[in-house]
Amino acid sequence: MTKFDEEIEHARFYDTNLNWEPRIKREVPFLQKYLANKNILDIACATGRHSLALEEFGAVSLGIDISPGMVAVANEKKKEQDGKSTFFTADVSALDLPTKLKEAGLKMEFDGGIMLGNAISNFGSLMAGVRGMRNIYSLLKKNSTFICQTVNRPNSFFYFPPRFQPDKVFIRLMVPNQQVAENNMFLHAALINLKEQKYEFQRVSKTFMYSVEEFTDLVTSVGFKVVEQYSNYNGDPVDESDGATTIWVLLK
Ligand SMILES: C[S@@+](CC[C@H](N)C(=O)[O-])C[C@H]1O[C@@H](n2cnc3c(N)ncnc32)[C@H](O)[C@@H]1O
Repeated sequence: MTKFDEEIEHARFYDTNLNWEPRIKREVPFLQKYLANKNILDIACATGRHSLALEEFGAVSLGIDISPGMVAVANEKKKEQDGKSTFFTADVSALDLPTKLKEAGLKMEFDGGIMLGNAISNFGSLMAGVRGMRNIYSLLKKNSTFICQTVNRPNSFFYFPPRFQPDKVFIRLMVPNQQVAENNMFLHAALINLKEQKYEFQRVSKTFMYSVEEFTDLVTSVGFKVVEQYSNYNGDPVDESDGATTIWVLLK
């Protein structure tokens, strides 16, 4: 299996493992209030689900993801749905991101954007987070809204609730990194086939997670203003406990 085949397989797993219908129903009505009819950036777009769902509200996206497999699956979905958004493979935290977009003849200015699913943690280090947020800020027009979702950094081991599928379970455990290193947590993820009693896959990735205070510092240091903060898409107040979600409405 080539690296690209592995990436595609992972992207298909990501796309089929999540319960997308309720997720899109929960998130998109909130997002469209800020982003309808705009040209937006979908940072770490994965298989393009949010970009394509926002098209119903007149938004057109440039979705960027570091994984060519995710981008390939996003392009398949675009074709199926006759979508208008563009999906592009790039590292959002790379210093040459603007040059890459320019060379590919892509848009360089956007009216808004999203970065959902705690994607910032997958950038893997604080420096990558800072560079990524700087790139995002530079690609947005003044007065643009950028909406992100983070998961508060746990101070110790943290389990996400297991997701059961027929005969399978998907588990994720966050483990703090005790060493002085670029990443502050490891994410252990495994899909276990309960019938055949074997791992379908298991992987450990480096992540850098933020407390609410730390992410506030990061986004304000690159120039964003935090205008709204919630603990979910119903608009409930922020919850600063370990592993809780925070939704950020940022203004350039
Ligand atoms: C947890 S998924 C979130 C995806 C999607 N936004 C969502 O809400 O479901 C994280 C995504 O970030 C992408 N990613 C990780 N590091 C990246 C980087 N440096 N630049 C762009 N994408 C990145 C991964 O390939 C993956 O698709």
